[in-house]
Amino acid sequence: MNVLVVGGAGYIGSHCVRQLVAANHRPVVLDNMIFGHRAALDKGISFYEGDLGDSDLVGQILIDEKIELVMHFAAFAYVGESVTDPLKYYFNNVVATLRLLETMLSEGVTKFVFSSTCATFGIPQSMPITEDLPQAPINPYGQTKLDIENVLKSLAHAHGLSFAAFRYFNAAGAAEDGTIGEAHDPESHLIPLAIDAALGRRPALKVFGSDYPTPDGTCLRDYVHVDDLSRAHIAVFDQLEAPGTGLFYNLGTGTPTSVLDVINAVEKVSGKKVPYQMAERRAGDPPELYADSTKAKQELGWDIKHPTIDPIVASAWAWHESRPRGFDDK
Ligand SMILES: NC(=O)c1ccc[n+]([C@@H]2O[C@H](COP(=O)([O-])OP(=O)(O)OC[C@H]3O[C@@H](n4cnc5c(N)ncnc54)[C@H](O)[C@@H]3O)[C@@H](O)[C@H]2O)c1
Repeated sequence: MNVLVVGGAGYIGSHCVRQLVAANHRPVVLDNMIFGHRAALDKGISFYEGDLGDSDLVGQILIDEKIELVMHFAAFAYVGESVTDPLKYYFNNVVATLRLLETMLSEGVTKFVFSSTCATFGIPQSMPITEDLPQAPINPYGQTKLDIENVLKSLAHAHGLSFAAFRYFNAAGAAEDGTIGEAHDPESHLIPLAIDAALGRRPALKVFGSDYPTPDGTCLRDYVHVDDLSRAHIAVFDQLEAPGTGLFYNLGTGTPTSVLDVINAVEKVSGKKVPYQMAERRAGDPPELYADSTKAKQELGWDIKHPTIDPIVASAWAWHESRPRGFDDK
C-alpha cells in the first residue's frame, strides 16, 4: 500500500516508516521538520518538507504518490506547554489536522491511522485502562487528541472515512540495529533523561513524587517499545477496508513500571549509576497509568515483542550511548 506518513521524520513516525518498508508497503513522508530528523529516514524514502495544513501541497502529494492511506503522527506533545500556550496546540493538533482530513476526503483518500494518547483519559477511575473508560483529559494536549478522535467518528459517519485511533502509552526504546532512536529537543521523557544522567550529560534526574500510593511511592507508567507500536499501525490495515469503520485501541504492554524501576533498569543495562534526587509531586501527574491492550491483541493479533522494561531500556541505551548528539543534523 502507498502510505503517507505525516510526521514521519519524528521519533515514532520514523520507526513506523522502517516497519512499513519491512512489510513491503511504500511509505511517503511529509514533515515540516520542526522536530523531525532527515537522518532518521533511510535514503530512498520519498520525502516532502512541508506542513500538514498546507492543502495544496498535501493534495498534490496524495495525487502524485497515489496515496491509499494516511498515518498521522505529527503534533505538538509537550503537556506543560499545552497548558501555557493552548492556541499553539489547538492550531497544530486540531486545525491543521482538520485541513489534512478535508484534503484527504476531497481527493478520495478515506483510510486514516491516528496517533492518539492515553492522556485523553485524564485521571482514570480504574486500572488497567480499557478502551471504554470515560475520557476526560486534564490538559489541552490531551483535549486536542480527544477532539480529533471525535471528529474522526463524525467523518466516518458522514463521509465513510475508515480510521483507527491508537492511544499510545509511553513510547520508548529504539530500533534493534541502533541506527535510529529517540531524539526530542527538549527531551521530556524519562528513559532518555535517565540515560543521559547516567552518562553525565545532564545533572541528576529529578523524581517527581515519592509518596504516591504505589509499591515504591513513585508513579507507575506503561512503557511500550516504539517498534511494537509501529507494528500495530500496519496490523490494522485489513480492518480499514470497510468504509465508515471507526476503531480505537489502547497500546501499552500492561506492565506497570515505576520511575525507580526505570532507574534500576538503566543501571542494570548500563552498569552505571543514575544520579537522581527526589522532588515534590508535579501537578496533574496521575499516580498510575497503564493499559489493557486485550482488544488490540485479540482484534489485530498485536504481538508485543518487548513486554518488560529491561529490553526496552537496552535498545534505548544502545542508541543513546552510541549517538552522543542524537542525529547531529540540526
Ligand atoms: N512519544 C510518546 O510517548 C507519545 C505518547 C502518546 C502519543 N504520542 C503521539 O505520537 C505522535 C508522535 O510522537 P513523537 O514522539 O514521534 O513526536 P515527534 O515530535 O518526534 O514527531 C512528530 C513529527 O511531526 C512533525 N510535525 C509537527 N507538526 C507538523 C506539521 N504541522 N506539519 C508537518 N509536520 C509536523 C515534527 O517535525 C516531527 O517530526 C504525536 O502525535 C504524539 O502526540 C506520542
